[in-house]
Amino acid sequence: MGDDQNLIKPRILAIESSCDDTSVCLLHDGKVHALVTASQIDHDQFGGVFPELASRLHAEKITLIIEKALRDANWKLSDVDAFAATAGPGLIGSLHIGVMAAKTLAFRYQKPYIPVHHLAAHIEAGRFVQPFQYPLLSLLVSGGHTMLIEMEKPFHYRLIGQTRDDAAGEAFDKVARMMGLPYPGGPHIDTLASQGKPHYTLPLPLDDDSFDFSFSGLKTSVQQRLQANERDKQPLDQADLAYAVQTTIIEALLRKTKRAFAQKPYKMLVLAGGVASNKGLRHTFQEWSKEANFPLVIPPSWACTDNGAMIALVAEALYSHGGAQPLSHKVDPNWSLTDVHFEV
Ligand code: KG4
Ligand code: ZN
Repeated sequence: MGDDQNLIKPRILAIESSCDDTSVCLLHDGKVHALVTASQIDHDQFGGVFPELASRLHAEKITLIIEKALRDANWKLSDVDAFAATAGPGLIGSLHIGVMAAKTLAFRYQKPYIPVHHLAAHIEAGRFVQPFQYPLLSLLVSGGHTMLIEMEKPFHYRLIGQTRDDAAGEAFDKVARMMGLPYPGGPHIDTLASQGKPHYTLPLPLDDDSFDFSFSGLKTSVQQRLQANERDKQPLDQADLAYAVQTTIIEALLRKTKRAFAQKPYKMLVLAGGVASNKGLRHTFQEWSKEANFPLVIPPSWACTDNGAMIALVAEALYSHGGAQPLSHKVDPNWSLTDVHFEV
């Protein structure tokens, strides 16, 4: 990818709408010219994302967000060389809104439409920090996925391990809800944990020889802790509990990543996904990479959580490498990352 100086650098308009963030990015030559994101806070009352509400809110906002991005970058729609959107995995109704908007614009301006895989984009967001060296290992931790992925070359992904139940972000959110914190709970646990101290101990989930994760048991442990405190009329220290939850999740992620990283001479480790914006996780992995002396790539926080910039970066890379698809291309809510292959 680094040696394609002779290829055209297209101006990309990319849309991310796979879950509860509506995000539009205008990108050219690897640089973000505008990034506008609207996060749906309306789901708090349901304690999780309510799919019908999510698609309705995407539909209400998408045009305004595109207009704002164009104003911010001082671009016109006719300046855009290709229109991209997340085509999966995600919530079907939400995906449709972004994809329909991108396809409509591609049709109107007679420009290519590029469907992008959401999880591939999370990983590729690391290229905002530095170019990738292969083979690499990526730990992808989001609200819906927890995966260890190997990349032997660009845009080829091999699954090494994944969660057997809840995703890491889901564990953060569910435990936060039990503690009475707003949705999404991950950032709240992060903030509380920074004020907490080692006090409560929670069992380490799935500490075995596999590369898999399991986080559903954590909920039960926290539930038992909350019940025991209530029964014994002991005041609960929220910050200390958040600290225990966060360190347990981080330790589980670290152990399996270390195990996977040791099995091959990987050239780098890439953290990705919304949970990678967790301060404790970033710090722990940074310490390990310094100690073991290997390159660690962690995108800035804005590029970890769902955003249009990561979609645009992939679309730009794939523009000259078969990324464009006919307008009949369908969204796939279950699109598998291992089905993504591009020779670049
Ligand atoms: O990647 P993302 O934005 O959306 C999905 O593709 O799922 O990830 C969202 C997840 C949520 O579960 C949210 O609580 C979690 O990332 N998250 C965090 C933090 N920021 C977002 N979890 C822990 N600490 C954070 N600072
Ligand atoms: Zn995501």
